[in-house]
Amino acid sequence: MKKLMDSQGATLPPHVLIFPVPIQGHVNSMLMLAELLCLSGLDITFMISDFSHSRLLKHTTVGSRFKQYPGFRFQAITDGLPDDHPRVGEKVMDILPSTKNTTAPLFKQMMVEKNFFSSETRRPISCIIADGSLPFAGDFAEEKGIPLIYFRTISACSFWAYFSIPELIEAGEISVEGISMDQLVKSMPGMEGFLRFRDLPSFCRVNDINEPNLQLMKSVTRQTTRAQAAIFNTFEDLEGSIVSHIRNHIPKIFTIGPNHSHLKSRLAEKKADKSILSGSFWAEDRSCLNWLNAQPPKSVIYVSFGSITVVTREQLLEFWHGLVNSGQRFLWVMRPDSIVGEDGKNQTPVELEEGTKARGYMVGWAPQEEVLNHEAVGGFLTHSGWNSTLESIVVGVPMICWPYFGDQTTNSRFVSEVWKIGLDIKDTCDRDIIEKAVRELMEERKDEFLERSENMAKLARKAVSEGGSSYSNLNALIDYIKTMIT
Ligand code: UDX
Repeated sequence: MKKLMDSQGATLPPHVLIFPVPIQGHVNSMLMLAELLCLSGLDITFMISDFSHSRLLKHTTVGSRFKQYPGFRFQAITDGLPDDHPRVGEKVMDILPSTKNTTAPLFKQMMVEKNFFSSETRRPISCIIADGSLPFAGDFAEEKGIPLIYFRTISACSFWAYFSIPELIEAGEISVEGISMDQLVKSMPGMEGFLRFRDLPSFCRVNDINEPNLQLMKSVTRQTTRAQAAIFNTFEDLEGSIVSHIRNHIPKIFTIGPNHSHLKSRLAEKKADKSILSGSFWAEDRSCLNWLNAQPPKSVIYVSFGSITVVTREQLLEFWHGLVNSGQRFLWVMRPDSIVGEDGKNQTPVELEEGTKARGYMVGWAPQEEVLNHEAVGGFLTHSGWNSTLESIVVGVPMICWPYFGDQTTNSRFVSEVWKIGLDIKDTCDRDIIEKAVRELMEERKDEFLERSENMAKLARKAVSEGGSSYSNLNALIDYIKTMIT
């Protein structure tokens, strides 16, 4: 590519298009990637759905935060779903076909009509960093000869499980018929001896290997190999051995995470405002921090199931009884759209709101990173979304995992069996099991879990500090992107 100059004759920096799947967990980590690249002087166009963009602007300071980067632009585009689409629970999967059918052609048209987002001060897009779940962005990059890097918002271990679906099918290890949930998976290098059928990504739980979501995840994951490189929000001390298996198929992998912690460390280096970048789609209720201030150290279990999980009233009551019976204090995020009654209506049971007052506190959406970092928090009951898992790891908070779907079923197994920093209660939702797990994590085995979690937290922080693996890998990624314009 040509060395384009600005009016003073300085070479214009590379211009990167970042394109996440428009859901919370994806937008969060890719916004942080955007800020990390902005800090190194790269120009960024951040492609985001109208729906997510308006919620970001409404509930966060992201708009003003990015004003400090003259090279940063948001570019809104439709996600193809009506505004009143729930975008939660299993319905969230509707986003993939709708972006393929509606967003993809508009994206193509926009790129061409806007001359690849070039202007007098910005070169045309020199590289696309697309969410690995948006293969149409890869099609476009290939068609136009633009360098392509895929960013994966999921863990390397769950990516590797998705990647291995063809081998698992070949070996007869996928298909519920005749397979016990506790059967160990044999055809996935690096996971021998501890990964059960139950721990594969939830889309593998099928009766028929032609089931559309299984096929979709298989093809979306396999097409990652056509990119010049891939970025993972993880770090080598956590998942290096699994990443080494993926490197046999995708040689250029940059592990740069945990992104949120990495961003804080880079901002501190530049003596910039290192307050947490919130990309929340819901308004954060900060009153819970005052409530936490009044609780003893490490006494509270924080309960949150992320942005997509939905639960029935029955499940909710099992959690509530389990928490109350455990005798522990709890802070519970009850997203307004997370409860689905049999009549299909969202409703928080009245007895639950009333009965929580003694030892608990509830909010609709919390400033999660701050909550996890609060000295009163000693455990996290989580759905094992990858961002939540990393946020907990960085501050050394042990977890009880109740995975909901997708990658979470694999993450939770790694938390309990590989990293040994929590318990995995997957596939159960029973008050006695919940009570027992909370007691085990917060009382009986507290010291053991805290010690291992704190050790892992140290490794995470080392990774994003100068000289650490993620720190060096981000520098290498930026150098690599710069080679695309020379
Ligand atoms: C989804 C998938 O479910 C997840 O498995 C995948 O790895 C990324 O996309 P989500 O279910 O929302 O994301 O979970 P998670 O990855 O944990 O992301 C949730 C984000 O919302 C976290 O960054 C968390 O800090 C934030 N959050 C959650 C809040 O800020 N406040 C809350 O009250 C709850």
